[in-house]
Amino acid sequence: MNEIEEQRKYMQKVKELNNKNMKYTILTMGCQLNENDSEKLCGMLEEMGYERTENQKEADIALFNTCCVRENAEDRLFGKLGELKKLKEEKGIIIAIGGCMMQEKHITDKIKESYPFVDIIFGTHTLQRFPEDLYKVLTEKKKLEDILDIDGMVYEGLPIKRDSKIKASVTIMNGCNNFCSYCIVPYVRGRERSRQPRAIIEEVRELAKQGYKEITLLGQNVNSYLRVEREKQIPFEEYEGVHSFATLLQAINKIDGIERIRFVSPHPKDFTDDVIKQIANCDKVCKLVHLPLQSGNTKVLKEMNRKYTKEQYLNLVEKMKERIPNLTLSTDIIVGFPGETDEEFEDTLDVVEKVKFEQVYMFIYSRRVGTPGDKMENQVPDEIKHKRFNRLKELVESQIEENNQKYIGTIQKVLVEGESKNNKELLTGRTDSNKVVIFEGDKSLIGQMIDLKITSEHMWYLKGSIVENN
Ligand code: SAH
Ligand code: SF4
Ligand code: F3S
Repeated sequence: MNEIEEQRKYMQKVKELNNKNMKYTILTMGCQLNENDSEKLCGMLEEMGYERTENQKEADIALFNTCCVRENAEDRLFGKLGELKKLKEEKGIIIAIGGCMMQEKHITDKIKESYPFVDIIFGTHTLQRFPEDLYKVLTEKKKLEDILDIDGMVYEGLPIKRDSKIKASVTIMNGCNNFCSYCIVPYVRGRERSRQPRAIIEEVRELAKQGYKEITLLGQNVNSYLRVEREKQIPFEEYEGVHSFATLLQAINKIDGIERIRFVSPHPKDFTDDVIKQIANCDKVCKLVHLPLQSGNTKVLKEMNRKYTKEQYLNLVEKMKERIPNLTLSTDIIVGFPGETDEEFEDTLDVVEKVKFEQVYMFIYSRRVGTPGDKMENQVPDEIKHKRFNRLKELVESQIEENNQKYIGTIQKVLVEGESKNNKELLTGRTDSNKVVIFEGDKSLIGQMIDLKITSEHMWYLKGSIVENN
């Protein structure tokens, strides 16, 4: 029996064990990969007869899917655990914590010492065993730790409960081999391993059948899909001509019903010409590309182990702009990496000035235990980090305001996602470049691609009105 069939048996057993009306809460931290993992955890829980609630007091299970890429997530988790202690004492709620942070020994040690009431601790390589872990905790009434230090396998066929009916994430590979010197991800997610082309294509076809319109392909280094397999001659089965990231884009572009394809995050060093060509050729692939910069200074990039220089990054952007009509770019930037001087930071501002990103996700460098960056002696003082962050933020915001002006009066294709959160009378959707547009329209438009004329800009969103010939 394969692992997932076995876990399905445990799902059934838990269901039979429990009363009706069991409920769970889930708090997901971190990136879209973690969100996709949480959708699988929700799928397993619903299969076991649990229903999701947002009200902690009525929950029988409190589940956390954690991130450890920056420090603030730790404070947040420990704060929540403190709050849960009372609920544990009063009604014996089951507390389960999984995800990246649980792959860090100093964190699990701290939990066992300071929060001994936590029932289940599981890692990134054992997510699929959650039903078995839960069954054991329910029947044996003991605490359980299920963490593996080796790379987990790629599992297919877990149940999944997706957050949206219009947009779906599809993880195409796990892990990362890049070891950027600031980053904890390779230590907590293991080495790169790709899913089989057939499994991905079949999942996307099924999503299309269910009415999904937008697919986001996920991986920590998404454009090196199947690269390790090719280099190390690890066997994989070519399917529909898919043997690389470029050919995967091509194959998904052909699937009827899917209207938009996005992907995060590619690494600039692996951005090959065949991928650029497919972004340009495939009509469904959005022309917004997320291209993490991290720093604009060649020396800092070298210290970060990013494997490209300032010039190589700018040349890549030029090449992409030439070959991909209507290209827009977004990026990630870290300020205050160890040893970064004021002058070196100016290079980051310079690249931002030159590229004119559509969106910039800005981070203050955070020391991560076990990474080379943490051991570097020339850490930048907090005050300087904050000053640089604010300067970058000012530049980015002024650019966004200027860029938003360009949208006014244009017609944009928007995928309508639902009611606006702040005003249920209005609808919300996104442009190809991932800008939020709010507009008046009938609810029947939800899930459709429509043309909107942009009428005004409001920094983080645009307003539009329906073009009559829709
Ligand atoms: N694999 C992706 C994203 C990884 S994490 C990539 O390479 O782009 C998302 C972002 O968090 C990174 O791009 C980086 O900007 C930021 N980040 C990672 N480690 C960090 C750290 N120690 N401190 C601050 N930001 C960090
Ligand atoms: Fe971290 Fe670098 Fe891997 Fe991204 S590519 S996950 S930043 S090590
Ligand atoms: Fe965080 Fe893990 Fe994603 S550390 S950013 S949740 S891969």
